[in-house]
Amino acid sequence: MKASAVANSNIALAKYWGKRDAKLMLPHNSSISMTLDGLFSHTTCEFDGKYRSHIVILDGAELPEGDAKQEVTIQLDVIKEMAKIKEFAKVVSNNTFPTAAGLASSASGLAALALAGSKAAGLELGKKELSILARRGSGSASRSVYGGFVEWQKGVKSDGSDSHAVQIADENYWKDFRMVVCIASKKEKKIKSRAGMAQSVATSPFYKSWIESVESDIDALKKGILKKDLEAVGSTAEHNCLKMYATMISTKPPIIYWNPASMSVIHSVLELRDNGMKCYFTCDAGPQVKIICLEKDSKEIAEMAARIEGVEDVIVSGPGRGAEFVKRDLF
Ligand code: PMV
Repeated sequence: MKASAVANSNIALAKYWGKRDAKLMLPHNSSISMTLDGLFSHTTCEFDGKYRSHIVILDGAELPEGDAKQEVTIQLDVIKEMAKIKEFAKVVSNNTFPTAAGLASSASGLAALALAGSKAAGLELGKKELSILARRGSGSASRSVYGGFVEWQKGVKSDGSDSHAVQIADENYWKDFRMVVCIASKKEKKIKSRAGMAQSVATSPFYKSWIESVESDIDALKKGILKKDLEAVGSTAEHNCLKMYATMISTKPPIIYWNPASMSVIHSVLELRDNGMKCYFTCDAGPQVKIICLEKDSKEIAEMAARIEGVEDVIVSGPGRGAEFVKRDLF
């Protein structure tokens, strides 16, 4: 059977950085994100006896054996095991955002695959099971199953059955919340998040403090989101990002994702804030800087960011919907 789904990407306000179980993709800490409107993957999956191995075609090109393909095949093998089927799958996935724009396409792609792949294998999964399945491909994908503001609860069980996302507020709750995504480089990053976080857990002297301090950020973010308090959400997210960066920078060998353009954006955000504008920054495992603000200020902020030397592109996005089935198949 063949099935298709779409899922939006997401950006974390409280980051996931470090696993307690690499195979089951279980995190050391809970995380919170916003699902991004309009930045999505469209994925079609078919299991059939005619395929001799899994075939994955991303944005028109077949993925060679390697890390990116492995994220997909691990998830496909989990689906096969759950559905008790032997067939291999063909997966075709397209991203609406520019390929290599430096935005995590794994979150949207693997959330869309959880939906399309499970249906194609004859399974009917609820949102919790879908989030757990998406997690097996990429941790952050567990959050893209839901729309709006989402918490990935780390869970405590060793089988991972309690490590999944839940929705804090849907995409219509805080409609004027915005992220201004500043693309500071479209080059592929040298250190993938998977390898980087494992190295931070193993070598950063600050890793323990990171884990100890995340839970209070989770609490503050949940309260801030429900109160629609931009200052609380923005300042907590910014500080959380800087704490994650402290563990990255103090990793051996060091992980420094920022480039000069990222630094210029960060300084501009601080300057705008000194001048009374409510805006905050957050960054992930790459040089892109995301500016958190309200819709009324997003145009001015986006224009400011576009003028910064080295900023290649600026995308403004608000809270988006969760993953859903679509009728249109890609093959
Ligand atoms: O799920 P992954 O392997 O793409 O890791 C995501 C890591 C960060 O983007 C840095 C943080 C996060 O929670 O999204």
